[in-house]
Amino acid sequence: MPTRAVPPSAAALVGSLRGVGYSLETAIADILDNSIAAGAKGIEVQWEWNDGEPVGWILDDGSGMHSDRLVEAMRFGGIGPEAERSAEDLGRFGLGLKTASLSQCRQLTVASKTTSGLASFTWDLDQLRKNGGGWDLIEGDAGLPEEIRNQLKSKKSGTLVVWRKVDFGRTTDRPSYESFLADLQRVDAHLGMVFHRFLAGDARSLKITLNASRVPAWDPFLERDESTIRNPEQYINGPGGRVLVRGFVLPHRDRFRSEIEFEKAGGLDGWTAQQGFYVYRQKRLLSAGGWLGLGGSRAWTRDETSRLARIRIDIPNTADHDWRIDVRKAIARPPDAIRKPLQRIAEDVRRKAREVFVHRGQYGSRQKAAGVSRIWQVNPEGSKRRYTMRRDHELIQLIKGRIDKTGFDLLEGLLDLIERTVPVDRVWLDVTERGVPDEQVDSSELVSAALSMARLMERAGLSPLEVVGRLSTMDPFDKVEGIE
Ligand SMILES: Nc1ncnc2c1ncn2[C@@H]1O[C@H](COP(=O)(O)OP(=O)(O)O)[C@@H](O)[C@H]1O
Ligand SMILES: [Mg+2]
Repeated sequence: MPTRAVPPSAAALVGSLRGVGYSLETAIADILDNSIAAGAKGIEVQWEWNDGEPVGWILDDGSGMHSDRLVEAMRFGGIGPEAERSAEDLGRFGLGLKTASLSQCRQLTVASKTTSGLASFTWDLDQLRKNGGGWDLIEGDAGLPEEIRNQLKSKKSGTLVVWRKVDFGRTTDRPSYESFLADLQRVDAHLGMVFHRFLAGDARSLKITLNASRVPAWDPFLERDESTIRNPEQYINGPGGRVLVRGFVLPHRDRFRSEIEFEKAGGLDGWTAQQGFYVYRQKRLLSAGGWLGLGGSRAWTRDETSRLARIRIDIPNTADHDWRIDVRKAIARPPDAIRKPLQRIAEDVRRKAREVFVHRGQYGSRQKAAGVSRIWQVNPEGSKRRYTMRRDHELIQLIKGRIDKTGFDLLEGLLDLIERTVPVDRVWLDVTERGVPDEQVDSSELVSAALSMARLMERAGLSPLEVVGRLSTMDPFDKVEGIE
């Protein structure tokens, strides 16, 4: 069959690849993946404003590449998705280095050092445009300033990725200094999140600095906090290998030492946005939050009441195809075969999270929680009535012993009426719109309610000691300071 070679025009193709949707932080994270795959222990990210002509570079102490290897690394689509990759490899399409870099800048220089010496090559979009369609890689570092070039000197081996002609993917407006600083803050938070298991966790250890200060880890699950509920780990067998799933319910707001700590634990985009699944590949976070399209007939949304639910999923890199990992490694979709079991796990975590959210300190409470008596009980899904009042509550028992049959039937009728008319819809709406009202905890109003309850109980014949004993374990009076 006669064929004709129709290679793409380099300038046009690279120009459109710029728009695959990287942000500054996701682009930098993609470069760091390569450094980690190359065995780096330390990675320095440096950004200079440079009077409105920003320059950024990323330096690692990994294995480095010799000249031929570096040329391959600069090739678009060098080692593609078909290639067998080592389990450690965070790469996938053979595009990341190029597309991530050139989504943010128009000149990419990569210099790399091994025992056999130093090599460098440069892609320049303006040059590609002038060259009329060819894929001409510039040899050398295109006049890289001395102080940047020198960075590799101190390393035995390593790689330096430099972004010049930085436009952050924007074609017209120039970035302001303020937005540049804000971008760097996002970079710091994003790297701390994406690589948290490397920075402080169960992956091999790694140090990342941004403009010479250490990037701190941000653990979405607060695993070290004693108030966090940890569900057991579960394996699910799926196409492409088995995944490991673990659900967490984060502590109620009351359990945080300060409002700042609470905000911090919420994460980059806040508590509501950051609920849901956290998908990891080789301990590297791919997607943070969201319910991956799971749910009943209508997919779950990120509503405030389930904001304390976060679920970790570890997938092997052999499952990329089945999880539809995209070029940016930012989107993951669970394969159909495991949606059901995942959904079951998530339902349980979401339910517990909602309970913690509304019951304040009940779960994970350091004290008292186990023995606290509550009048409301939540019945399992599918039972006749969802919310009922416990007939064995001490107050109801107390009344029972003091009234006749008619009185008791009337009381039963009243309780039944209350249970039937719990304004669930209204409460749900209010809570989603305004959050849980905080008025009861430690307010003077709660104290006086406790006092009048104490007097009633004394009048009903309980001894002062009995009164105190009961109130100190009765929701909500257990929250009054010093009642015991
Ligand atoms: N910092 C680095 N250190 C060593 N090798 C690198 C580094 N960055 C890139 N490479 C090499 O270049 C190749 C291409 O990188 P990239 O375009 O990101 O695609 P991918 O990561 O999907 O393979 C990598 O597979 C790796 O062999
Ligand atoms: Mg890569």
